[in-house]
Amino acid sequence: MTRIILFTGKGGVGKTSVSAATGIQCANLGKKTLVVSTDPAHSLRDAFQKDIGSEPVEVMHNLFLQEINVTEAIKKYWDNLKMYLTALMRSQGVQGIAAEEIATLPGFDEAAQLLYIRDYAHKGDFDVVIMDTAPTGESLKLLSFPEAFSWYMERIFPISRKTAKIMRPLMKPFLSMPIPDDKVFGSIEELYSQMKDVKEILSDPHTTTIRLVCNPDRMSFNETKRAFTYLLMYGYSVDAIVVNKVFGSSTGEFLKKWRESQDLILDEIKVAFADLPISKIPMNSTEPTGFDQLRNMGEKLYKNIAPWEFMAEPTPPISFSQEKGKNFISIRVPFAEKKNIELHNRGGELILQVDNWRRVFFLPQSLSTLSPINAEFNKGNLLIEMG
Ligand SMILES: Nc1ncnc2c1ncn2[C@@H]1O[C@H](COP(=O)(O)OP(=O)(O)O)[C@@H](O)[C@H]1O
Ligand SMILES: [Mg+2]
Repeated sequence: MTRIILFTGKGGVGKTSVSAATGIQCANLGKKTLVVSTDPAHSLRDAFQKDIGSEPVEVMHNLFLQEINVTEAIKKYWDNLKMYLTALMRSQGVQGIAAEEIATLPGFDEAAQLLYIRDYAHKGDFDVVIMDTAPTGESLKLLSFPEAFSWYMERIFPISRKTAKIMRPLMKPFLSMPIPDDKVFGSIEELYSQMKDVKEILSDPHTTTIRLVCNPDRMSFNETKRAFTYLLMYGYSVDAIVVNKVFGSSTGEFLKKWRESQDLILDEIKVAFADLPISKIPMNSTEPTGFDQLRNMGEKLYKNIAPWEFMAEPTPPISFSQEKGKNFISIRVPFAEKKNIELHNRGGELILQVDNWRRVFFLPQSLSTLSPINAEFNKGNLLIEMG
């Protein structure tokens, strides 16, 4: 089975360097490994000082690198996407679109990249796939795409294929939005099921874990906490925190204040992520590029732990309970603030919004007509009373 490890964090914290170092370590320990960049601002090539293509290339024994080119990814998975999109565009009165133009539409770069990951998970060509992703916000867009896609699809194409067959001849003259024909339906259904598949692969804690890379500074720490909240809310497993660019005592008088402030934040990181292993990587005196330096970083980072090990117990994002005749739902959203949370039941779906991120939970039958009447925080869980 393919193991997927995804690194994310604020821009510049060291995602690419750490992904590269992890890849080398996995390959050296005998795993056929792919490091794949989904960040449009690719820098794997700079880290490795190698030319890298948009398909996997072997750069040392067992180690393959790939920088996904979104336009090419869309061409590769073109058939499905084109069918879906043409149907969508036609309904808006637009005809004939080129792949390059589609690449700029929101959501499509995410979809195409995810289809690659799905292929790797299914084909099992690699033992370990390491994803070097874009900064947090973009990565969250990528990771929330499968769910958002399902949600929209159900609303844009609410008519089932069977109904469409009966309705089409009757409705055509009256509708501005054409009822999709069978071929389009087939393709939409395929993409839909592929996205569900992707969601399953990425949220299966026995396949995929996410590691948050940060630096010991306030901004990066805050962004890490937020990312952690949203990732758990979407049901993804985070199994480690990597704190990169930690100043050692040899950095001298000039950086003394920085070191003190780093120490303070490191303490806060330990408290905030008490359930997770936290690894530290020192600030190098030069940019860690090329095989030797990256291998060195990987060896120090993992010591005698295999990088593909699962480093923390997964916790279910949502659970239901009953107490004294009352119904409760518990959702993991550590670090979220009550004032930034919105909750409501819409037609049997519990909609949870934290800041700009929204997750839809399908409620079990017994709760589907109840509404949230109270919500309290308890150890990183939002405990919602339904009534
Ligand atoms: N431990 C470190 N010590 C010194 N420089 C580092 C370290 N980790 C990363 N860098 C450098 O910091 C810059 C950003 O790192 P990178 O891995 O590209 O971050 P990201 O992928 O998160 O944007 C690069 O120039 C990289 O070489
Ligand atoms: Mg990067």
